[in-house]
Amino acid sequence: MRVLDGEAIWPPPIWVMRQAGRYLPEYRAKRAEAGGFLDMCYNPDFAVEVTLQPIRRYGFDAAIMFSDILVVPHALGQNLWFAEGEGPRLDPVTTREDLAKLRQRDPAEHLAPVFETLRRLRRELPAETTLLGFCGAPWTVASYMIAGKSTPDQAPARIAAYRDPEFMAALIDMLVETSIDYLTAQVDAGADAIQLFESFGAALSAPLLEPLSLMPMRRIVEGLKARRPQARVIVFLRGGGPNLAKLVEAGFADAIALDWSLDLTRVLPTLPVTLPTQGNLDPLALVAGGKALDEGVDAVLAAARGRPHIFNLGHGIVPQTPVEHVAQMIARVRAAQG
Ligand code: CP3
Repeated sequence: MRVLDGEAIWPPPIWVMRQAGRYLPEYRAKRAEAGGFLDMCYNPDFAVEVTLQPIRRYGFDAAIMFSDILVVPHALGQNLWFAEGEGPRLDPVTTREDLAKLRQRDPAEHLAPVFETLRRLRRELPAETTLLGFCGAPWTVASYMIAGKSTPDQAPARIAAYRDPEFMAALIDMLVETSIDYLTAQVDAGADAIQLFESFGAALSAPLLEPLSLMPMRRIVEGLKARRPQARVIVFLRGGGPNLAKLVEAGFADAIALDWSLDLTRVLPTLPVTLPTQGNLDPLALVAGGKALDEGVDAVLAAARGRPHIFNLGHGIVPQTPVEHVAQMIARVRAAQG
């Protein structure tokens, strides 16, 4: 939380995206017990337990609540299921008639188990461990809602954005409003800070970036802060490139999470020295371990030295990551000389 307020703490605090997940044997055991992935998201007993697993094993400085960005369309009434080995599936929303059928139920009621999970986590976590809530940014969530599944380049959503801008704007508006309520309730339930996942930020052309990504994210951050001024928001715009500079210029993020494709030695000097950053070790360097991992960690540390920075990966940890490599990474970060 001090880094999010601009303090350059050294060694930097550390957590990793998807830290509660399949690379952990204790997660796989719980998952087998729980049945489906979504059942686990909506069951506070399971969600609390798997959120705490990486904190117990490694003592990460932040815990991210176990859930998924797609519980929001689910709460809006869209059918959602996780097909084994295939990832998420939804009944596609492609017309204004489909949109009108959503929001038949109260999202807050559907999401009540998430808030219960946060309340329990805040009680059970060590006081010094930051509790992170999250949601998907509207464009990323909308692209799943429209395609009904993961797509390599979000083509269905991009075509919809060009073909029917009014449909797209209505969908984005619905997600903005729902996300502000959702995040406000997360903060009230104990989340110290929030991460917005714009995982498909690379798929936006210049004319689409502002209306579909930057403006909706700004509305969410400003809407949340109007109600809960103490909230801090980290924005992860994956596939940044030129879009990253525009996000920084827009100025609404308390911190920017940088993906693994960026060269920190080039990017960080272009950012305001007071702007907190997070990232950006390649998750596959963590899979490889050994010298590649040590060099990757050292490169991030060298580039971020003297800045408010949170050590993290440049995207989610992958299931084949050996658990000892995570320990190796943390030890090296924590040994960084002040
Ligand atoms: O980071 C954490 O530990 C918190 C939990 C978390 C999950 N998903 C758990 C999860 C978070 C923050 C997410 C975010 C999420 N979910 C994103 C944005 C971040 C990113 O990776 O870019 C996206 C795009 C999703 C949608 C999603 N959920 C996909 C595409 C998949 C399947 C892919 C896969 O890895 O299998 C999921 C499933 C999912 N979400 C798992 C976990 C631990 C694996 C489920 C399982 O146990 O089978």
